[in-house]
Amino acid sequence: MNIQWYPGHMAKTRRLLEENVKVVDAVVEIIDARIPYSSRNPDFNDIVSKKPRLILLNKSDMADDKLTDKWISFYENIGVSVLSVSSLTGFGLKQITPAIFELVKDKTAKYAEKGIKKNIKIMIIGIPNVGKSTIINRLVRKAAAKTGDRPGVTTAKQWIRIKDGLELLDTPGILPPKFEDQEVALKLAYTGAIRDEIMEIEEIACSLLEFLRDNYPENLKDRYKLSDITDLKGYELLDEIGRKRGCLVSGGEIDQTRSANIVLEDFRSLKIGKITLDKTEDYNDR
Ligand code: G4P
Repeated sequence: MNIQWYPGHMAKTRRLLEENVKVVDAVVEIIDARIPYSSRNPDFNDIVSKKPRLILLNKSDMADDKLTDKWISFYENIGVSVLSVSSLTGFGLKQITPAIFELVKDKTAKYAEKGIKKNIKIMIIGIPNVGKSTIINRLVRKAAAKTGDRPGVTTAKQWIRIKDGLELLDTPGILPPKFEDQEVALKLAYTGAIRDEIMEIEEIACSLLEFLRDNYPENLKDRYKLSDITDLKGYELLDEIGRKRGCLVSGGEIDQTRSANIVLEDFRSLKIGKITLDKTEDYNDR
């Protein structure tokens, strides 16, 4: 997905999102389990504040399991329903619909009391690349065909029945990530949520290496057969890895761009291990 977020587009997207939120009973927000804070746009909080919300920590197959547990507690402690899932492996997906029905149980009880038969309507929201389309595909794989609100009207919303009594809006609500600071932008860049062009790729790789040196030193040492890394700066680590991998340019200098590409590719394909970049302790006051 390659969306240019110029202000006009942004305002229109937000308006559409606000309109769609009004007609649903609950919202499912997808976030990336490797960056459970940095992959949330805080504007979602205002937009969906009046609706029950379920957070899915997706891509949990790529995240550090211990930290995923901490993030689940973090969100539960502030009263938000949360599940760890992986739309790639299928982990946790069966729990999604029961969790949604649980969220709206007061509403369904009221409907039942009054003898009203009404489907629960939900929508999925999230920043790009967190796995919204993959989850929608998994949820609707066995589901019935689309049901239009008003057949024949092209602007009608399309609802997909994903279970008896439960319908999903076919288009997810998307907002771009919000960079509160450079650190958030960097974490989004490591995971590939924002394109590498926003910064020099070497700069992104150096800062990832420093994060790994401080937080996952054994993973880093194992992957690149490094011994003592404690005192090495990011660019020194990048050079060391380049040397080991034969990333040389004429004259014997290290090709830092190639080395940076190796590190980022290794990180994104789990070769350095299951790593979570946001730590709950850094966000307890937010
Ligand atoms: P979006 O609609 O929110 O933008 O995300 P989308 O479903 O397109 O998923 C973005 C990428 O993340 C896809 O990779 C998808 O396969 C991957 N992905 C989604 N869910 C999971 C998950 O639970 N685990 C893992 N490991 N990967 C997941 P892609 O098509 O290869 O795109 P890209 O990685 O080249 O950007």
